[in-house]
Amino acid sequence: MKIVVIGGTGLIGSKLVNKLREHGHEAVAAAPNTGVNSLTGEGLAEALKDASVVVDVSNSPSREEAAVLKFFETSTRNLLTHEAAARVGHHVALSVVGTDRLAESGYFRAKIAQEKLIKESSIPYSIVHATQFFEFLKGLADISLVGDKLHLLPVLFQPMAADDVASGVARIAVGPPVNGIVEIGGPEKFRVDELVRRCLVSLKDPLEVMADSNAGYDGAKVSEKTQLPGNHPRLGEIRFESWLSQLATQIPAHPQARGVGVMTKEKEGHKKAS
Ligand SMILES: NC(=O)c1ccc[n+]([C@@H]2O[C@H](COP(=O)([O-])OP(=O)(O)OC[C@H]3O[C@@H](n4cnc5c(N)ncnc54)[C@H](OP(=O)(O)O)[C@@H]3O)[C@@H](O)[C@H]2O)c1
Repeated sequence: MKIVVIGGTGLIGSKLVNKLREHGHEAVAAAPNTGVNSLTGEGLAEALKDASVVVDVSNSPSREEAAVLKFFETSTRNLLTHEAAARVGHHVALSVVGTDRLAESGYFRAKIAQEKLIKESSIPYSIVHATQFFEFLKGLADISLVGDKLHLLPVLFQPMAADDVASGVARIAVGPPVNGIVEIGGPEKFRVDELVRRCLVSLKDPLEVMADSNAGYDGAKVSEKTQLPGNHPRLGEIRFESWLSQLATQIPAHPQARGVGVMTKEKEGHKKAS
C-alpha cells in the first residue's frame, strides 16, 4: 500500500515511515525538505498520486497562537482537497488526548480546528489521540520554567514512548478508517510533577520541581483527569523506567548537563505545546 506520511521526517513521522516500510508498505516521507509542503500545497499532488492512505503527523514550526491556527487549518484544508482529487481512501491524523478539554490553549484550539475539518470532510478518517510523549518532557520543562524552578501540575497523565506512538499510528493507518477517535496511551499513570522530578534526579540534573496547582498547561486550566485517556485506550508496551535507563546510557557524563536539555537533543530548538 502507498502511504504518504506528512511530517515524515519528524520525531513520530520518521519512526512511522520505518515501521511501515518494515511491513512492506511504500511509505513516503513528506515534509518541506523532501519537497512537500502541506501549508503551501507544494509537491502534494505528485506525492499523493496513487496513495491509499495519508497520515498527518506534522506539527507547526511556530507555537505562536495565530501561526499555529493558520498552520493546522491551511495544511489540513490543502491535504483534504488534494486527497479528494487523488481518491485517497483514508486520512489519519495524530492529535492529543484531552484536546477537546484544553480549548483555553491556543495550540489546542488549532488542533480542535484541525479535527473539525477532518470530521466535516468527505474523506474516511481516523483521528489518533495520543497521550504526551516521554520525549516531550523536555518541551514540558521548557514551558514550565519560572525563575529558576519548574512549576508543574501535580495531576495525572499517562505518557508513552514515541516508538509506541509510531506503532499505534501504523496499526491504525493500515486498518480500515474508524471515522472517529482512537485513544492510545502509555502502560502506566504518573503525576506530572513527580515524573519530571524522577527524570531530573536520574539524569543528575539539580533543577528543582515545584508542585503548583495553578501552573496550567500551555495556558489551559487542567484538572486531575484532563490529560488521561478514557476507559479503553490502546496501550503501548514501553515502560518509563526502561525508556529512561536507555536514555541515560546515551548521555555523556557532564557535571553541567541539564537532563531535560539532553532528553530531546535530536530536536533542539523545537519548542511546542505538545
Ligand atoms: N508532543 C506530544 O507529547 C504529543 C502528544 C500527542 C500528539 N502529538 C502530536 O504529534 C504530532 C507530531 O509531533 P512530533 O513531535 O513528531 O513533531 P515534530 O518532530 O516537530 O515533526 C514535525 C514534522 O512536521 C513537518 N512539517 C513542518 N511544517 C510542514 C509543512 N509545511 N509541510 C509538511 N510538513 C511539515 C516537519 O518537517 P521539517 O522537520 O522539515 O520542518 C516534521 O517532519 C503533532 O501534530 C502533535 O500535535 C504530540
